[in-house]
Amino acid sequence: MYSVALLGATGLVGQKMLQILEEENFPIKTLKPLASEKSKGKKVCFKGEFLEVEEATENSFDDIDIVLASAGTEASLKFGPIAVQKGALFIDNSKAFRLDKETPLILVGVNDEDMKAHHGILANPNCSTSQIMPVLNALKKISPLKRLIVSTYQATSGAGSEAVSELYENTKAALQGEKFTSKKFKKPIAFNVLPQIDTFCENGYTGEEMKVVFETRKILHLSDDFPISCTAVRVPVDTGHSEALSIEFEAPICPQKAIEVLSQTSGVIVQDMIDAYDYPTPLEAAGKNPVYVGRIRKDIAFENGLCLWCVADNLRIGAALNAVRIAQKAVEMGLVKKHLYPKLLRK
Ligand SMILES: NC(=O)c1ccc[n+]([C@@H]2O[C@H](COP(=O)([O-])OP(=O)(O)OC[C@H]3O[C@@H](n4cnc5c(N)ncnc54)[C@H](OP(=O)(O)O)[C@@H]3O)[C@@H](O)[C@H]2O)c1
Repeated sequence: MYSVALLGATGLVGQKMLQILEEENFPIKTLKPLASEKSKGKKVCFKGEFLEVEEATENSFDDIDIVLASAGTEASLKFGPIAVQKGALFIDNSKAFRLDKETPLILVGVNDEDMKAHHGILANPNCSTSQIMPVLNALKKISPLKRLIVSTYQATSGAGSEAVSELYENTKAALQGEKFTSKKFKKPIAFNVLPQIDTFCENGYTGEEMKVVFETRKILHLSDDFPISCTAVRVPVDTGHSEALSIEFEAPICPQKAIEVLSQTSGVIVQDMIDAYDYPTPLEAAGKNPVYVGRIRKDIAFENGLCLWCVADNLRIGAALNAVRIAQKAVEMGLVKKHLYPKLLRK
């Protein structure tokens, strides 16, 4: 049994983690919900019991075995090393440590062995990267990957609770013909699509797009110059990210073979009967654990190419579910042990 702290317990991912810890019956001895000062004293529900939220401070991690963190980059940078110093395993949903060479970036079922190299912190990938990992990992066993082009259609819940509220408030205002000032997004999200997620980088791509590039290479052990290009777009959807992939392989790969392999891949469901108009949509994927794949077809723009459509719940496989699975896997692999973090503890 483990003492678990939930850093960011009042947020969208934190709330989902509470639900999934309960669904999975994770072996919890004590559960400590943490958030910012503004949430101090609020209550969160776990297994029918109301637990009081504490303000996260340096002292919050005494006697904690596992921290599940979803409180943003700043909070993770501040509290991650402190928690590890105190002997906790810090499983992080933010981008703070994802590309750090000493921090394994894990999508459970894809690169579990990488977890063994951890020094107290294990990172959870960005939601747009997470859901395509089981799919690409399965397909690259048929033939090595040569090039990847990704277009995302991302739900507002990927940007936190305030973004979801803005979707509903903006939509309501638009329907009632009222003026609305966007706060979370740069332009109206209601009845619109926004080709910007995160800030712009020097190369003209956004931070979100470059996360897909760098995180995919790291998780799948691809070379540092493996060609990946991504366009990330926010759409007026509550929950569930959709992604169109164009994948080039070293050798020819027929759609039927891809369907066969993906159908046998754990955590992936093929939903591809176009004659019956059966393909995945975010509305149907929301609230569910699997990654759904459809519209699997030959890419007519590449010699050995495949196109497909991939949909999943961004709050589950894209965040909370994978974080809880990392904790479960760490327990299973015997990696939740204070003496395993020598490097950070020595500092
Ligand atoms: N949403 C997704 O699909 C998704 C997917 C992958 C990764 N992530 C990442 O997960 C993190 C949280 O996302 P979210 O969607 O849950 O955001 P959110 O709904 O805005 O929630 C943020 C949470 O962090 C807490 N927090 C903020 N600053 C804090 C601080 N200084 N100290 C302690 N707690 C603090 C907030 O507490 P208060 O309520 O007290 O402010 C709240 O509980 C982000 O890093 C995000 O990039 C999100």
